[in-house]
Amino acid sequence: MKTIAIVSSVGGAGRTMLTAALAGLLMARRHAVLAVECDPRNVLTLYCGLRTPARQGLVSHVLAPTDDWSDAALQTDDGALWLPWGGARGEGRGPDAEASASIAASLHKEPMWLRDLIARVDLPGHAVALVDTAAWPSVHASQAIAAADLVMVVVPPEPLACATLPRLKSELNALGKQAVYVANAVSPASQLHTDIVALLRDTLGTALSTYRVHADSGIPEALARNESFVHAAPHSQAAHDMQGLASWLSSWIRSAYQTAAPVSGGSA
Ligand SMILES: Nc1ncnc2c1ncn2[C@@H]1O[C@H](COP(=O)(O)OP(=O)(O)OP(=O)(O)O)[C@@H](O)[C@H]1O
Ligand SMILES: [Mg+2]
Repeated sequence: MKTIAIVSSVGGAGRTMLTAALAGLLMARRHAVLAVECDPRNVLTLYCGLRTPARQGLVSHVLAPTDDWSDAALQTDDGALWLPWGGARGEGRGPDAEASASIAASLHKEPMWLRDLIARVDLPGHAVALVDTAAWPSVHASQAIAAADLVMVVVPPEPLACATLPRLKSELNALGKQAVYVANAVSPASQLHTDIVALLRDTLGTALSTYRVHADSGIPEALARNESFVHAAPHSQAAHDMQGLASWLSSWIRSAYQTAAPVSGGSA
């Protein structure tokens, strides 16, 4: 299983939206997909067509480790598996502050916990785990980064994203993580957005993906209607951008499997 962590240094960057959209687009490219939510906001199920936050999920494993992760996983019509954070209780309540702090402390103590959990998931073929995270820095983002073969950094064209990106970039470099940076919610009509994308190109070079995702008001509207944006507006520029990004990721996953495969035909 190859693991792609979807992180950013600011909130509201589009990580969860991209995780959900790419899960479907990578399934369509014949990858078995596990979408994991390593974020206590517990909203991933809202992106896969459910109207209520999940009760079971990753957090259930932090609280009571078991080998069977699959009882907390959901499967969508396209075959993708979804492992939400979970922890929802009645009347929209989640774990209280004390429980949340003790869960975060457990994650801090075991930095490879998520990596080990994903390693136990056995999916066929060129399978991929897409890990949605809380904004970095956080124990949740650190778990996802530690588990990742590739880190996809989502960058909205905002001054705060530019100001906080160098610290994340140097952390990923220090950890020796391969990273691809994706600008999301870009409006070509905005001079600020054009200038920021040019700045990102200068500072990130080829690590900045050529597939930037355009801003489209249909994206939050599709979420409000419990629909997949890519299915609802397949001919939009933003859907086209996400198709391009998914094709690039699909090639990356296939080549990562080839690199990891033992050299064949070498036996004596
Ligand atoms: N390309 C886009 N165009 C327009 N709206 C977008 C785009 N990408 C994401 N959004 C909207 O921006 C909001 C934030 O997106 P999302 O929840 O995916 O971000 P996030 O990085 O996961 O945020 P959080 O820090 O809350 O976890 C959502 O309402 C989403 O629909
Ligand atoms: Mg999110």
